[in-house]
Amino acid sequence: MKYFIHTYGCQMNIHDSEKIAGILENMGYVNCDDVSQADVAVFNTCCIRETAEKKIYGHLGALKKIKRDRPDMTVVVCGCMSQQDGVAEKIRESYPFVDVVLGTGNLNLLQQAIETAQNRKKFSNIEFLQYREEDFPQSRTSYPNAWVNINYGCNNFCTYCIVPYVRGRERSRPFGDVIAEVNKLLAEGYKEITLLGQNVNSYGHDLDGNVSFASLLREIGKSEGKFRLRFMTSHPKDLSDDVIDAISEYPNICNNIHLPVQSGSTEILRRMNRRYTRDDYLALIDKIYAKLPDAGITTDIMVGFPGETERDFEDTLDLVRRVKYSSAFCFVYSRRKGTPAYSMEDQIPYSVKKERITRLISCQNEVTKQISATMVGKRYEVLAEGANPSYPDTMCGRTESGRLVNFKYDASLTGRFVTVYIERASSATLWGSVVEEE
Ligand code: SAH
Ligand code: SF4
Ligand code: F3S
Repeated sequence: MKYFIHTYGCQMNIHDSEKIAGILENMGYVNCDDVSQADVAVFNTCCIRETAEKKIYGHLGALKKIKRDRPDMTVVVCGCMSQQDGVAEKIRESYPFVDVVLGTGNLNLLQQAIETAQNRKKFSNIEFLQYREEDFPQSRTSYPNAWVNINYGCNNFCTYCIVPYVRGRERSRPFGDVIAEVNKLLAEGYKEITLLGQNVNSYGHDLDGNVSFASLLREIGKSEGKFRLRFMTSHPKDLSDDVIDAISEYPNICNNIHLPVQSGSTEILRRMNRRYTRDDYLALIDKIYAKLPDAGITTDIMVGFPGETERDFEDTLDLVRRVKYSSAFCFVYSRRKGTPAYSMEDQIPYSVKKERITRLISCQNEVTKQISATMVGKRYEVLAEGANPSYPDTMCGRTESGRLVNFKYDASLTGRFVTVYIERASSATLWGSVVEEE
């Protein structure tokens, strides 16, 4: 019996798929990469932008024929899209061959749902439940890295964003549960732990006792053995001095901060409900570089939010040049039904969005190129991750600051710390050779 999983969207979903795989393997299924051979096919969906949604509906449509040939196959749709208003109904009507629809907090129902479907009954549950991670196994796929959830959901309601509606209100995972999972992973040999939350900096505010994200970082930072601790995502309004201090105190907490800015215009930020100004953000960046001079700061930026003028957009370009991000994920604003920005006036025409995103990407590429050039001729400690699928005989790893480095393939290095001498850089990609092994 075989299972197939297609994962769309962010790290949150990638990690949820590891839990789904764990449940299925526990039920006796083995992984396969070909959906047409699967007994259970899972689509773990994302609805952050319209492009993601369109792609998923396309893939679901293509399944109709496969399911006709193999009527015993169980098709599961879960993840963020299924939690959106009206989507479960739409799937029932337009994609009647889908057997199971599950929401983002309902993974604990997966086994029961599949068993129900195998008795030729539909199963659908998108109530906001919350499972305990500890209640089922996980099948991890990202060694030497391991993802660890610390908080779920989001309370911020940025006016463009669907996440609070599909992932529910913010809930922190108990401090002791997180520590226990991290210790277990380190004992199993994982070399990098990445803490996950929509806003990791607000971790703990809903828990009893005096816990905060900084106290969580310090508790993990104290752990023995060589490993790296990373985390994402940080909301600029909540990144405290205490967190910056914790990063600088513990060498195993990486100086790599994903700090989405979204826009460089204070007026657009206000309408996005981000709750910081351009100056607040730039002051925060100064504070980070003052304590962590080699920090790798990355970001998410959106162009074409309703009402964005050429002037607003130029403020974004100017901010990008000032901050010197090591990389930036750039997005075209996409209207999401149910969010406040959906009904704002002055929606920006696609032609303008397209022109702006091109300019933004080339502006950031210039910045990345400059940073890369300063790294050539230096040595960096890199955690070797494994083969780089884009190049033959090449493996890759990251510097503490999060920059990807390519070097000659040697399987025995996977999961080890090596010192790499950077020989050349082609814009975002660094190439080097191993000069020292752990
Ligand atoms: N919790 C994270 C981001 C989650 S979504 C944070 O607050 O930073 C990841 C990114 O998708 C966001 O940072 C934003 O840049 C982008 N995004 C969210 N909604 C979007 C929309 N409606 N259109 C385009 N991009 C969007
Ligand atoms: Fe969305 Fe804003 Fe929450 Fe991030 S902080 S998930 S962008 S609402
Ligand atoms: Fe992530 Fe997409 Fe959901 S970005 S939280 S999978 S809507």
